[in-house]
Amino acid sequence: MNYEEAYGKLEKYGQLHVLKYYEELPEEKKEALLEQIAELDFGVLQYCKENTTNQKGKIAPLAAMQMPEIEKHRKEYTEVGIEEIRKGRIGAVLLAGGMGTRLGSECPKGMFDIGITRPVYIFQRIIENMLDVVRQAGAWVHLFIMTSDKNHDMTVKFFEEKDYFGYSKDYVSFFIQDVVPASDYDGKVYMEEKWKVSTSPNGNGGWFSSMNKCGLLDIVRNGDIEWLNVFAVDNVLQRIADPCFIGATVANGCVAGAKVVKKNSPDERVGALCLEDGRPSIVEYYELTDEMKEAKNADGSPAYDFGVILNYIFKTQELEEIMDRQLPLHVVEKQIPYMDGEGKYVEPETPNGYKYETLVLDMIHQVDNCLAYEVDRNREFAPIKNATGIDSVETARELCKKNGIEL
Ligand code: UTP
Repeated sequence: MNYEEAYGKLEKYGQLHVLKYYEELPEEKKEALLEQIAELDFGVLQYCKENTTNQKGKIAPLAAMQMPEIEKHRKEYTEVGIEEIRKGRIGAVLLAGGMGTRLGSECPKGMFDIGITRPVYIFQRIIENMLDVVRQAGAWVHLFIMTSDKNHDMTVKFFEEKDYFGYSKDYVSFFIQDVVPASDYDGKVYMEEKWKVSTSPNGNGGWFSSMNKCGLLDIVRNGDIEWLNVFAVDNVLQRIADPCFIGATVANGCVAGAKVVKKNSPDERVGALCLEDGRPSIVEYYELTDEMKEAKNADGSPAYDFGVILNYIFKTQELEEIMDRQLPLHVVEKQIPYMDGEGKYVEPETPNGYKYETLVLDMIHQVDNCLAYEVDRNREFAPIKNATGIDSVETARELCKKNGIEL
């Protein structure tokens, strides 16, 4: 992109201040800035005043396939799932591009060591769980790992150093998620340097389009991977490429599946799988009205009782079809490092603007149907969000011990 084109693009979005220092920049910095302007989507900034996630349709309950029913069919579903894995039709996508701000570690979250008497890294737990399935099926599951520009190098180096925790390197591919500009409260982008716009990772909803941009869909298409199991980095107990879950989704003719757990209480901070205008959707815990919290099914059980744990399976064909649709934008207040009027770099201690994210949970509303598949939270849900307290290293360690995992 040349200067005139960059000027035109910025003018369209009211961001001409980005070029304030252009004339004084050395040649290579000029080029870097023009390249960044060409790549960035400034269109998101128009939403700084109107979070596009606020418009929900008519919400109704969506029945989950519960554990007793799954047990009845476990053998049959598992066989179906194992067959899919053996045929190479299953891929797994680890979402590891987050900042892990709440945990407060400098390193990528997956490098966090939850061990007590020996090192047990979060990434290691994930790989160990995947290796169980690889052994059971006698076939590898291709693992795609999404990082961000902020943690990519450290993540790749860590996997190399640890020899992929025993996983076959040939079946692991890394890709970097896209970034979007970060702005002040009026939607004006911050500058990080005179030649660089402040950016932040675009949330976990962009994983499939980022895979596409990075050329990884060739592996999916050429390898006939028909299903992708996408999951969060921080749940150290979750089963990945779980044959029974895959089999249940396939056998029930669904195009997507979501692992869910029975909520601890109506106020637990997990999104509930539901129907929105007749399509699957997720209603966030803060969107649940009192009426919804009290609503009951015919058998008297709570109607919005099953929470998602960020472990979904999608048919890739479906993902190709919805890839270009704009997901709702979540506008999140954040501390954004920036360059002040005197050209000094500032790292604010309190929020000073917005980052713009799309979320994987909003993809569920784009697909025609989704199997809500219950898992036992004591065996499969040990998220690490915080250093202490709820969903923390302590709670995850407790659950690991209960499941016989040596720490
Ligand atoms: P969280 O919402 O828990 O965010 O991400 P986080 O960044 O890890 O942690 P906090 O909120 O800063 O404390 C849920 C999952 O989505 C991934 C995370 O790595 C995690 O697996 N994620 C999140 C991305 O891959 N990219 C993003 O931009 C955001």
